[in-house]
Amino acid sequence: MKFFVDTANLNQIREAQDLGVLDGVTTNPSLMAKEGITGKENILNHYKAICEIVDGDVSAEVIATDFEGMVREGEELAALNAQIVVKLPMIKDGIKAAKYFNDKGIKTNVTLVFSAGQALLAAKAGATYVSPFIGRLDDISTDGLNLIAEIREIYDNYGFETQILAASIRHTMHVLNCAKIGADVMTGPLSSILGLLKHPLTDIGLEKFLADYKKGN
Ligand code: E4P
Repeated sequence: MKFFVDTANLNQIREAQDLGVLDGVTTNPSLMAKEGITGKENILNHYKAICEIVDGDVSAEVIATDFEGMVREGEELAALNAQIVVKLPMIKDGIKAAKYFNDKGIKTNVTLVFSAGQALLAAKAGATYVSPFIGRLDDISTDGLNLIAEIREIYDNYGFETQILAASIRHTMHVLNCAKIGADVMTGPLSSILGLLKHPLTDIGLEKFLADYKKGN
């Protein structure tokens, strides 16, 4: 399972990279705005800065909602760095753009996916990643994890190579449950990854080992 962090915060990206288990980064316009990154030039420079920190794929989202605009923006984003994955919204022109970029060998991430039918279409278009938003489904009393399971079954039925990128992850149990179902990738806040570290018996055990060592030394 690949671990991505879902943030545009460079310190958090550095911390995740330093841990040695980071496979990539996802961003979106809201995450960019949260960091105060505005204006085309600043946004493009920020993507370049993220690519310098991480080794893996970095999803950069287009703003255009028409095919020509998405192609124009996507090509500009892809030219920034070979690590860039063009993030496209799950709308008709987004699917057309995913097919276009796939034919050109440019990686894509189809985002804002909330149904198995949408994920099927993204796979047919040859998307590299599909991003089902599980936290936002949970927010409206719909089982987000069930969507991951449905997509896994459909993709396995036909051997689709599109990777299931479980997005809108809110906490560590989401990460674990996505791993059990077989999501290819998770993207979430750094805290959802760091939560995997924690167990009180680990802390108690370590404290005792160190105390016993001190007794004899
Ligand atoms: C995915 O790529 C999105 O950036 C993200 O996971 C959205 O998560 P949210 O629902 O916490 O905003």
